[in-house]
Amino acid sequence: MAEVHKEPQEFTLRIRRYDPESGEPAYWDEHTVELEPHRSVLEGILQARARFDGSIGIRCSCRAAICGSCGVRINGQPGLACHTHLDKAVASSRDGVIEVEPMGNMPVLKDLIVDMDQVHWKKVQRVTPWLVNKQPIPEREYIVPAYNMVDVTQSMACIQCGACVSDCLSMEVDPLFIGPAALAKAYRFVGDPRDAQQFERLKDLAEDPHGIYDCTHCFKCIEACPKGVAPMNQIMRLRRMAGDVHGINDRNNGHRHEIVFAHLIRDHGLLWEAELLPRSYGGDSFFGKFHPAAGAELVSSLPAITKALVRGKVTPMGALKPHKLPKQDLGQIHSIYDKVEGREEPYELNLYVTGYDEDESGAEGMPSAETGTPGMEPEESPSR
Ligand code: SF4
Ligand code: SF4
Ligand code: FES
Repeated sequence: MAEVHKEPQEFTLRIRRYDPESGEPAYWDEHTVELEPHRSVLEGILQARARFDGSIGIRCSCRAAICGSCGVRINGQPGLACHTHLDKAVASSRDGVIEVEPMGNMPVLKDLIVDMDQVHWKKVQRVTPWLVNKQPIPEREYIVPAYNMVDVTQSMACIQCGACVSDCLSMEVDPLFIGPAALAKAYRFVGDPRDAQQFERLKDLAEDPHGIYDCTHCFKCIEACPKGVAPMNQIMRLRRMAGDVHGINDRNNGHRHEIVFAHLIRDHGLLWEAELLPRSYGGDSFFGKFHPAAGAELVSSLPAITKALVRGKVTPMGALKPHKLPKQDLGQIHSIYDKVEGREEPYELNLYVTGYDEDESGAEGMPSAETGTPGMEPEESPSR
């Protein structure tokens, strides 16, 4: 098909400038560049730097969404500057001017360059980002079932750009949270059958108060990721493996909390908040609240409970009685639970990769193909 030629046109970039060493506050700087609309925001920034101001700080390398260097925020959303077309960026702008800022949750080194070492890479190092071989090491190669490799391929697609870290809401509140990118990396090894430390890794990540149970399921990292890694889904897999497969009852109470959450909704159709905390700590039954651990937790939570009562977020009757749902509606909720819990095997495997195994027989237990990132095939070898 013949390539459609588009004339260059003007685009105005509003770039956030900041030099911590100058002692001056951050400010916005505007430049108008001239490029074809399908060219990238990165090309726009580089043209502004070449033509108007050589001091604009931006990090980049491959210009092809591979190296992960050019992570920024464009019109408030995290992404890769080299992977965002100028015309699309204008369309998503507030006033026709493309706003480019550094990523969040990481200190700014200069203008659009953030210090990935201080946050992102430190957290990746925290999760032991390499394979710990099972012993004895075979004389030749390890034979790994294809479906296991398919399962970890999604986390291997990460290019370490930091876009998910930039917008992680938990990390804003708790900067010590291990975070989406590092936890996705952890799943890459937890899900690899050659790794000798699956249990130890999961126990460590479950026990850490800033670990897998510190994620609030806000979905931001899924939206932010330019490579479809869906870090939150990897975190949920880590949780399922820790709790359901290894029975790890972490001291943060995350696993028990999840179980009680699911059981209360199954039994009442809606969450019964007043029972959630005592059962999480005292045991998943009506008597859970009489356990000393539940009492201690209730006492320590009294200030928060009082505040909720004063603000009318909870009423005393609402706290004492469960929500009531019509029988028919409750029946529909039960049927969802029956369907999910009645599966012979939980759907743990990741169906990110599309395509069919050339070998008709396939690997035993190979999951059926589903939609995923185009161009990724099961045969693609692990590289990260
Ligand atoms: S889903 Fe969890 S890890 Fe992802 S951005 Fe939200 S809090 Fe962070
Ligand atoms: S998970 Fe996605 S957004 Fe996060 S660092 Fe990796 S590629 Fe970037
Ligand atoms: S420059 Fe490499 S990902 Fe953008």
